[in-house]
Order: sequence, then structure tokens, then C-alpha cells
Amino acid sequence: MRSVGPPEPVFTDHDHVLEVEDLEVDFRTEDGTLHAVRGVSYVLRRGEVLGIVGESGSGKSVTSLAIMGLLPRTATVRGSARLEGQELLNQRRRDINAVRGKTISMIFQDPMTSLNPVHRVGEQIAESILAHRDVTKKEAREEAVATLARVGIPQPDQRARSYPHEFSGGMRQRAMIAMAMANEPAVVIADEPTTALDVTVQAQILETLIEQKERSKAAFVLITHDLGVVASMADRVLVMYAGRPVEIGTIDQVYASPRMPYTLGLLGSLPRVDVGERKPLTPIAGSPPSMVNPLPGCPFAPRCPLATDRCRVEEPPLRDMGDGHLAACHYAERLAEPGMDSTIFIAGHDNVDRDLPGYDEDVATEHLPTDATELGR
Ligand SMILES: Nc1ncnc2c1ncn2[C@@H]1O[C@H](COP(=O)(O)OP(=O)(O)O)[C@@H](O)[C@H]1O
Ligand code: SF4
Ligand SMILES: [Mg+2]
Repeated sequence: MRSVGPPEPVFTDHDHVLEVEDLEVDFRTEDGTLHAVRGVSYVLRRGEVLGIVGESGSGKSVTSLAIMGLLPRTATVRGSARLEGQELLNQRRRDINAVRGKTISMIFQDPMTSLNPVHRVGEQIAESILAHRDVTKKEAREEAVATLARVGIPQPDQRARSYPHEFSGGMRQRAMIAMAMANEPAVVIADEPTTALDVTVQAQILETLIEQKERSKAAFVLITHDLGVVASMADRVLVMYAGRPVEIGTIDQVYASPRMPYTLGLLGSLPRVDVGERKPLTPIAGSPPSMVNPLPGCPFAPRCPLATDRCRVEEPPLRDMGDGHLAACHYAERLAEPGMDSTIFIAGHDNVDRDLPGYDEDVATEHLPTDATELGR
């Protein structure tokens, strides 16, 4: 018999609410094929927060948009992303619409990505509730107001009748969070949810997100530039570089003993970032590689103090360090040697290719620790 409707769920583990496997995204561009995502795999467990960090252009947003089915037609998507066992990639629009906004939702940097300027805020949230739940219009409207109240919008009854442009930036972001949470999703992807806001508003919005996370049973993917936010909110962290995860582990594993020089660079090398301390991404000398014509080998090699000839020909796979902590570096074990994390970016400084695009001696020097000892090798 021919099957109708979406395929049967295939769970590999009921604790895994989202399973992403070998996700690849290419874009057709005028310059050729751009390999934006080159094999991303991760699992998101029920109720956990997975932080995703990495420089601009590393593929964080494209990974998320692929999972949400929101990429333009110029994108080719391969691999698998299963939400509660249900495949999301390359599915019919109807099947995706049934889960988007219901079981999985996304919070963007720019609220106007998901708010329609010509509809009242409350109506938009009520529409989303009506589309996915068996409720009356009146019940949907009441639920929309209650959702706005939960994200800290004052006088929600009245504000529900406003248009998005009548809200401040912070209030719009709250409205988008309300929209994302309205149907009690199992997974929320928040892509730089506070980056566009000023600092005081950022803190308030983060607080709201934390409250929503604690109140709901949702698992969160939290994409951010702020390593302190990841340390304080996430259970695990995934570091992206050049379209791939280069390190994945618990906050303790990755922050206390990074096994990939890029992560070490992000963490600022020294002093070690105490869990909970706020810290934005540290600029690392040089810039990320071209994703149109990538060089062979480890994509971090031109910027890496430890790079060897092997690194320039052989791209390191993501390897398990034995405790579920994964890292993509040929010399991951060397980073565990005593003193190594404190000296690598100094001792290796002379190793860095100063001709590489974007290399800035002042930036590089500024980010060198000053009290490290020589690396004996
Ligand atoms: N619609 C698109 N068409 C072509 N290239 C794109 C498109 N969207 C993103 N890219 C490219 O894909 C790569 C990854 O982008 P993105 O996922 O947005 O990075 P980030 O980690 O900053 O979120 C970048 O090189 C970016 O220029
Ligand atoms: S594989 Fe080589 S170039 Fe890549 S991060 Fe490790 S040491 Fe550096
Ligand atoms: Mg992005």
C-alpha cells in the first residue's frame, strides 16, 4: 500500500527531541558553489539548552534555517534533521507548516522577520494558535494576550491591539518570543536573539528567555556571540568554524579544557573564562576561509599557531575525546598537556601566516597573553 501523509517517525532515542545528521547546505552564487554548511551533526535532548558559537559566516544561521525549511531556492540541502523522529529536510511545504510554529519555532535577531507589519500583534499570535490548535477564535485571542503577559508586555490586553511599529525594539523582541512560545513548542531556535538590542534591553530580554525556558519544557538552541551567556544558560556548547562543528561538549568540558585551538582562541586563551563570566567572542588574527573555493586541509590552519604540514592537507574529523567531548583537531590530545592552553597562542604566534587575508598584527598582539612561558618543543 502507498503511504500517505508524512513518513512514520524514526526515533533513535526518545530523549533526543532533535537529531541533525550530516547536514550540508550549498548555495548557487555568481562566484560558484558556496559550501555554507559542510556536515553538521548534533542532537538536542528534551529540555536542554545547546549553545552554538562561532564567528560571523560560520554557518550558524544557515544550519538553523535549513532545519526550519526557510532557505531560499538557491540552496541545496542534504542530510537529515529529525524532530521527534520526523524528517524535516526536503519535505512538502504542507508537512513543514504543520510543525513550524507548533513543535519547532525560531526567534530571530530581527523581530520583523517573523512579525507582519500590517497586522496587529495579538492577531498574529492568535492566528498562529488557531492554525495549530483546536480552539475558538475567542480562546485564541485570550491565549495570545496571556502569552504577551507571560513575556512581560505591560497592559497586554491593550498592547495586543497595537501594530509592531508601535512597539519599541525590546517590546517587539518580547512579542516575537511570545509568538515563538505560543504553541508550547518542543524546540526553540534562538538566533542571536539580543544582538540588535542595546545592553540594558539585552539583559531584560535574556531574562525573559530564561523565564520562558524554565516555564516551558522546550529545548533551546541558543546561537550567540556572547560566551558568558552560553556559559550561564547552556548545558552544552557547539563551536562552529567554516561550516562545521569543530568542538562539542558540556560547558565544563569545553570551557575548562578546550581541545581545538580555535575554541581556545575564542575563549581568549588566558585567563580561562570562569563559567558564568560574560565574555564576547575574542577576535582571532586573520579571517575565516572562503567557502566558495576552500583550501584543502584544516580550514583553521592559516590562523592556527599549531598548524603543521599535515594540517594543510588533511582536514581533521570530529573525534570523541573519550568522554563524549568531541573535537576536530589532529592535535586535540596535545591541548590537554599541562600549560599548553596558556602558551599556544604565544608560542605559536610566529607560526601564523601574516599574509593571510584580514591578518592584523595589532589585533593579534593585543590578544596575546603576556605572562605565559615558552612552549617547549
Ligand atoms: N541566501 C544566501 N545565499 C548565498 N550565500 C549565503 C546565503 N545565506 C548565507 N550565505 C552564506 O553562507 C555562509 C554562512 O552564513 P550564516 O549561516 O549566515 O553565518 P552565521 O554563522 O554568521 O550565522 C556565509 O558565507 C554566508 O555568506
Ligand atoms: S588540525 Fe592543525 S590547523 Fe587545525 S586546529 Fe588542529 S593544529 Fe590547528
Ligand atoms: Mg547568523
